[in-house]
Amino acid sequence: MDVQEKCRSWTADHLRDSGDCYYQAVTRTSGGTEVEFRGTWVIMAASHDYLGLSADPRVREAAVAAVRRFGTSLGGSRAACGSLDLHEELEGRLARFLGHEAAAVLPSGFQANLMLAPLLADGSYVFSDSSNHASLNEVIRLGDAKERTFLHGDLTHLEELLASVGEDSGKLILTDGIFSVDGDLCNLPDMMKLADSCGAHVVVDSSHDLGVLGPNGAGASDHFGLRPLLVTSALSKSLASVGGVIAGPADIIYYLRFHARTSLFTAAASPANVAAALAALDILQSEPERRVRVLDLAEQLHNGLRALGYDTGSSVTPIVPVLIRGRERCLRMWRELCRAGVFTTPMTYPAVRAGREVLRVTLTAAHTDEQLMRVLDAFEAVGRNEAEHPR
Ligand SMILES: Cc1ncc(COP(=O)(O)O)c(C=O)c1O
Repeated sequence: MDVQEKCRSWTADHLRDSGDCYYQAVTRTSGGTEVEFRGTWVIMAASHDYLGLSADPRVREAAVAAVRRFGTSLGGSRAACGSLDLHEELEGRLARFLGHEAAAVLPSGFQANLMLAPLLADGSYVFSDSSNHASLNEVIRLGDAKERTFLHGDLTHLEELLASVGEDSGKLILTDGIFSVDGDLCNLPDMMKLADSCGAHVVVDSSHDLGVLGPNGAGASDHFGLRPLLVTSALSKSLASVGGVIAGPADIIYYLRFHARTSLFTAAASPANVAAALAALDILQSEPERRVRVLDLAEQLHNGLRALGYDTGSSVTPIVPVLIRGRERCLRMWRELCRAGVFTTPMTYPAVRAGREVLRVTLTAAHTDEQLMRVLDAFEAVGRNEAEHPR
């Protein structure tokens, strides 16, 4: 079929089905916790700005100052057009924070994961949790290693797969720290023991646990007191910016800068984004009470939703997945929640398997107790309406 024809018919169907549910524009934001949406203010319960720093005056001012000093863009790739001292400062700070020798900063978290491609060489194997983020799945498609996917969190399955490949082959295990849909935490201690026993290395995507877990807020590895070979993370969550980082041994990071096309052939992260991440990292490190607050709010949200009869799965983190089951029901409840004043995320295929639809709810350290109560009230009203009018 002609490409335009294909897109036209898909788009017409999609617009009818859920055109009002995704890529929705908000017109104003207030403190990062509420947004103006379709003419009314609603609670933003879909953002991963976990520490509530995206509207913090110190972070905003740092971004503005960087634009004044360096302008809006470097106009090309860092390899070709040069880096700012700001990039190097952020890389040094993040490497130390994550307990690694070196780090590379990229324009997005997705690209930070694509940096792994040169490590996935022909003849080697990559083992991937079935619930990993799409960007980890994508880098496997880019690389030449053979893929072995293990059932989500199932280390017995991983062990079987590891045992089935040649002892001398290169082996890399990829896992999210906190999983982005279900909000559960990977069993890093047992995974690393298993990896050590068979000469494999572990890479952890800490996008959702950086800033949230660990005595220093440095994520899953900090939480467990471990150091996997490499850690990647988006900067768009606890670090209130846009960008990505990969941290690890200095020689690997140096090698990747020259071999990963996602680094060589992409524009530098913008000065404003780098400065915002640096300012957010300062606050993350000096105000640990923010991660206490976000975890406390998450626990109250879990408990409140469970008390209302919702299934929030096995999440122990600020990602609260409300299992809905059924695409139509999920989208309908999302719309009703918006009307009741709460903006959540409707997770449908391809973000989740059909039948495992979820409304993902996240509150940040900046949300108030009163906002938490409004979220619970909205879920109560929408749930009651669903029960009274089964469709
Ligand atoms: C676990 C995980 N990894 C990577 C990414 C990609 O990060 P970015 O949005 O900065 O490209 C995300 C973002 O949604 C994520 O949740």
